[in-house]
Amino acid sequence: METTRLKIAVQKSGRLLDGSVELLKECGIRINNGKDQLKASAANYPIDILYLRNSDIPQYVQDGVADVGIIGQNTAFEKQKRIEEVLPLGFSKCRLSIAVPKHVSYSGPSWLQGKRIATSYPNSLRHFLQEQDITAEIHEISGSVEIAPNIGLADAICDLVSSGSTLFKNGLEEQDVLLQSEACIVKNDKLSAEKQAVLDQLTFRIQSVLKARH
Ligand code: PRP
Ligand code: MG
Repeated sequence: METTRLKIAVQKSGRLLDGSVELLKECGIRINNGKDQLKASAANYPIDILYLRNSDIPQYVQDGVADVGIIGQNTAFEKQKRIEEVLPLGFSKCRLSIAVPKHVSYSGPSWLQGKRIATSYPNSLRHFLQEQDITAEIHEISGSVEIAPNIGLADAICDLVSSGSTLFKNGLEEQDVLLQSEACIVKNDKLSAEKQAVLDQLTFRIQSVLKARH
């Protein structure tokens, strides 16, 4: 009988990839990786790795195309899919924040009333604006969001901040924090018992690795 293999989706390229691969390696999992291969199998563990676009991973995990994913909590929150967080992983820490040009005297969220805000996280921003009872125009752009105020496209932005250097270089200042985020494991909400058992073993190994890092 063929053993059950757990399909894990990780980011194909970007800030989560190195941390994800490094973590699996520290768990003793050997991934045979042809560089441009988008699917790879672990030689010594019943898992397959799928390299996918970050923003697609929640959907794939919900649909069961992947069983498990390593994504940022910010992406999990933004996509609002039927997936479950299993474990926070302690790397790729960042926050989703409102930022405005540094000459602006930002008086708090109410300053955003009637303004144009550029973001790659429209659902998270909409949620925040509703909570604050503010009506604003949301301009969705998929990257380089910090340029938007400088080219007259928006009055403010809502984007990820890690070191803060992108904000600084673009003359922006962080104001309100919408959410804190780090990498996490998410899973499909209807995993088979066999796959859950593989995931439990993997989670156990990961927890040991994370503990040893402290
Ligand atoms: C991310 C994010 C911020 C920046 C934050 O962008 O969207 O722009 O990193 O990091 P920092 O605070 O350390 O500067 P990324 O470089 O991934 O590019 P993109 O937004 O164009 O996809
Ligand atoms: Mg960016």
